[in-house]
Amino acid sequence: MNQIKYGIVGTGYFGAGLARELNKLENARIVAIYDPNNVEEIAKELKCDIEEEVESLCQRQDIDAIIVASPNCYHKKPVLLSAKHHKHVFCEKPIALSYSDCDEMVEMTKQNEVIFMAGHVMNFMNGVRTVKKLINQGEIGDILFCHAERNGWEESQSQISWKKKKALSGGHLYHHIHELDFVQFLMGPATRVCMTGGNVAHQGEQFGDEDDMLFITLEFGGDRFATLQYGSAFRWGDHFVKIQGTKGAILIDLQDVKVILKTPNNEQQFLLHESQEEDEDRTRIYKGIETDGAIAYGKPNQTPPMWLHSIMEKEMKYFHSIMQGTGIEEEFIPLLDGTAARASIATADALTLSMEKDRKVSVEEILTKEVLANDLRQN
Ligand SMILES: NC(=O)c1ccc[n+]([C@@H]2O[C@H](COP(=O)([O-])OP(=O)(O)OC[C@H]3O[C@@H](n4cnc5c(N)ncnc54)[C@H](O)[C@@H]3O)[C@@H](O)[C@H]2O)c1
Repeated sequence: MNQIKYGIVGTGYFGAGLARELNKLENARIVAIYDPNNVEEIAKELKCDIEEEVESLCQRQDIDAIIVASPNCYHKKPVLLSAKHHKHVFCEKPIALSYSDCDEMVEMTKQNEVIFMAGHVMNFMNGVRTVKKLINQGEIGDILFCHAERNGWEESQSQISWKKKKALSGGHLYHHIHELDFVQFLMGPATRVCMTGGNVAHQGEQFGDEDDMLFITLEFGGDRFATLQYGSAFRWGDHFVKIQGTKGAILIDLQDVKVILKTPNNEQQFLLHESQEEDEDRTRIYKGIETDGAIAYGKPNQTPPMWLHSIMEKEMKYFHSIMQGTGIEEEFIPLLDGTAARASIATADALTLSMEKDRKVSVEEILTKEVLANDLRQN
């Protein structure tokens, strides 16, 4: 097998974590990294070069693929440069903070015939893969409704992370796009959406400017719906996805960690992560006082918990296998053909517009706007 050489853009909490996973894999090597701040120690640890500019990293002849793990608002430039210099690219979630950026990124990678994988890591949880299988086997019949919550309480901060600033992270909706992506993986793209909420309890200098309560309704047509709640103004925090079908229902509990399949005559429990130990460790972390649970944020120089480490490893193994020429499994096609990236950001934009305009928004409005903009650009 060929050795695949990687470059990393952004070596904070997640980028350094992904780099460590890659470096452990056979025939994978990190060659160089770019980060305006956290580079020296990580480069020493990874035994790789430091690049001073993102473009100098992307144009290196000895790099085959780039991992983009910079703050959310800085994903576009390295993805476009990777495409321009014919490097495959893996980009962290959320892919972009606007559909037009996301579309441009997907298009550029397609035009330059490079792989573009969306880092929607929830799809690599064993329990999530099991749920998709159970649904495909018809265990719960047709899906009528999904409900997801990812919320908790944020205490005042001594330093405000970029993750709490709307212009940099997109706020809870974009930053925690996992549930929106997952629900659309199951139900297809939403057609009409509505969002309400606001920043109800986190104003002032010790907080960012993101909305701390978001209430979302998604319509899919055919009398199928989903609701989601995000935010950091919930003293009683929760983190789960409930899937209601015509024959049964499924709960994915990401806080008191487990997966339950419930049918009229049966109740079956599955692991969410790799082992009982990982599920229990995540439950312990969420119940303890060491994090804010569902709204917890990693920081540079911190290492991810056991359960997250394990899915990052699976995700990087998968990307590396694609780089080595393994075919893409059907289950993961949406992560690699732009579908998941586009659907999640288009719906997030439609939700944002809905709250701004105080009305329901058709996702088509976002997509058509982009088609018109593309036509104008081409003429
Ligand atoms: N999939 C997941 O579950 C998950 C979890 C955590 C983070 N992430 C994603 O990973 C990305 C990074 O998050 P993080 O937790 O590592 O944040 P972080 O703050 O720990 O690290 C971000 C790093 O990017 C660097 N940086 C700043 N501006 C940059 C630029 N213009 N170009 C390149 N690097 C730049 C910073 O110096 C820092 O080292 C984000 O997109 C985030 O959403 C995903």
